[in-house]
Amino acid sequence: MRDSGNLFGWLISLGFLLTLLNYPVKLVYRKFVASKPRESKFRGVYVKFQRFIVSNHRFFAFFTGLLLLAHVIIQLLYRWLSWTGLIAAALMVANLLIGSYGHYIKKKRPSAWLVIHRAAGLFLVAAIMAHVLTGGR
Ligand code: HEM
Ligand code: HEM
Repeated sequence: MRDSGNLFGWLISLGFLLTLLNYPVKLVYRKFVASKPRESKFRGVYVKFQRFIVSNHRFFAFFTGLLLLAHVIIQLLYRWLSWTGLIAAALMVANLLIGSYGHYIKKKRPSAWLVIHRAAGLFLVAAIMAHVLTGGR
């Protein structure tokens, strides 16, 4: 059980990175790809990739939430309650709610919610690193 609990931990980290890709993928588009001619093959492929990442952002996040639930249940049953893990989980659940608010209520129009949503993503990186580096203490 210890291995499968930790496996779910790594799967959450992977799903989280996939969710987070939203930002760098758009940044690379703005900085390097947008200036290429419309007929450019590379641009075409990149735009398809970007569309995939951005339009599935919320599904990556929801799926990561399910993995988090599995991790929490396994660790609580077979290991212990981790305080750093709890902080990371609270931030992730809060950001799922903020993202849903921005998507479904604010209809993706950027305002304060997006600033908070992005900042929470950064705090999450720190919280997850603390959790992993302390071995789940
Ligand atoms: C965003 C949330 C979380 C992420 C990304 C995450 C990720 C991870 C990862 C990658 C590991 C494995 C570390 C290793 O291989 O040494 C781990 C271990 C652990 N996690 Fe989490 N975790 C999260 C939330 C939680 C929560 C809420 C709890 C509370 C129950 C928790 C409890 C633990 C425990 C007890 C371990 C250590 C298990 C052991 O060494 O036997 N985690 N976590
Ligand atoms: C752990 C969960 C999540 C993390 C870490 C996260 C992270 C991010 C980040 C870093 C951005 C900035 C991208 C940019 O500047 O364009 C972003 C944008 C956005 N997120 Fe999330 N997000 C999460 C969950 C969600 C969920 C569940 C939804 C919707 C149901 C959502 C909807 C959005 C929307 C609408 C944007 C605005 C830009 C766009 O349309 O791509 N997010 N998110």
